[in-house]
Amino acid sequence: VDQEIDETKVAITLPDHAYEVRVAQRSLRSIGQITREFSASGKKALVLTDSNVAAVLLEPVKQSLERVGFHVTSCAIAGGETSKSLEGLAPAYDAFLTAGIDRRTPLIALGGGIIGDMGGFVAATLLRGVPLIQVPTTLLAMVDSSVGGKTGVNHRVGKNLIGAFYHPSVVVADVDTLRSLPARELRAGLAECIKHDIIRDAAGFASLEENLSEVLQLNPRRLAELVAHNVAIKARVVMADPFEHGERAHLILGHTFGHAIETTTDYKYLHGEAVALGLVAAARLAQSLQLIDAATASRIERLVVAAGLPTQASDLDVDRIVASMAHDKKVRDSRLRFVLPAGLGSAIIRDDVPVELVRQTVDSLRG
Ligand SMILES: NC(=O)c1ccc[n+]([C@@H]2O[C@H](COP(=O)([O-])OP(=O)(O)OC[C@H]3O[C@@H](n4cnc5c(N)ncnc54)[C@H](O)[C@@H]3O)[C@@H](O)[C@H]2O)c1
Ligand SMILES: [Zn+2]
Repeated sequence: VDQEIDETKVAITLPDHAYEVRVAQRSLRSIGQITREFSASGKKALVLTDSNVAAVLLEPVKQSLERVGFHVTSCAIAGGETSKSLEGLAPAYDAFLTAGIDRRTPLIALGGGIIGDMGGFVAATLLRGVPLIQVPTTLLAMVDSSVGGKTGVNHRVGKNLIGAFYHPSVVVADVDTLRSLPARELRAGLAECIKHDIIRDAAGFASLEENLSEVLQLNPRRLAELVAHNVAIKARVVMADPFEHGERAHLILGHTFGHAIETTTDYKYLHGEAVALGLVAAARLAQSLQLIDAATASRIERLVVAAGLPTQASDLDVDRIVASMAHDKKVRDSRLRFVLPAGLGSAIIRDDVPVELVRQTVDSLRG
């Protein structure tokens, strides 16, 4: 029989707020007690989730909340980025504002990054703020979107343009929830983990190389280590720069390429897959600029491959991708701005990258 792993807590300490990310197994069934720590006298509890997650994980969460005396109102919206809009929020406000809530009523955001972003925004705006319990159920949401306090929705003009900073009371990452996650989504989350180690932790990169197969087999101990390690890195970066004035920009490693790839391929790639391609491009670009050696660049590529993520895509439209990056207002005199690896475990921002070199790098992804 599996031995249950111990809980790991990662503390997030910001100028105006402190909370914990609790990484464990089987914590969904204690979500009621955990929620009570942050809403001792609340009578109602709200759960925002999506229909895929609701099918597998809503019942245990509801039961656990009811066991400690909460009356639960849940709202399951359709999964997918098209729901992440002002219109998509309407059912949540309708359900929650008619449930007889007050400012002690906690909101549990149960789902991936979409639900985390939307639930955070709803929690920030319901009665100008109710306690938020983030329960991320994708690897991406556990290691990335649940830390940092960014919440919000998309607008047709662009992604994530409507939002607020709002921090949760606690983040409960139960690695068992990853068992029902499609494997492709798990791998997409690994792209952000690889990114974190490239910018901050060479030793973490080496342990990911070593433990990757156990992670892909959903070994709970390895998953918990991975989540806690990555939350700690993201927390460290966010705590050093809570309002994104400087080094938090390192977190966009691979994303300048990645966003351009996402938008020019009509979102055929998952975000993490596009980021994986972006990490490979950033490594190659850094090698061209002599920021890293060939051995380091190929180590990055090998880890991306081992994670089951793409390193080449024959259908990329180089002109459109370069135009899209240039449009991203990072161009100066035909030079582009990038976060790039500077050795393993560190990153730098370069705003003098010649467009021609960028073009060659994107072209190299076509195989
Ligand atoms: N706030 C931030 O700092 C931040 C950072 C990164 C990404 N994001 C946002 O996160 C979003 C992407 O998040 P995501 O990759 O988690 O996508 P997602 O929320 O769409 O989840 C991916 C898919 O997996 C399903 N799913 C989730 N958990 C499941 C589970 N345990 N079992 C079975 N199915 C499950 C979902 O229904 C969905 O179909 C984007 O909107 C992005 O903008 C925000
Ligand atoms: Zn990302």
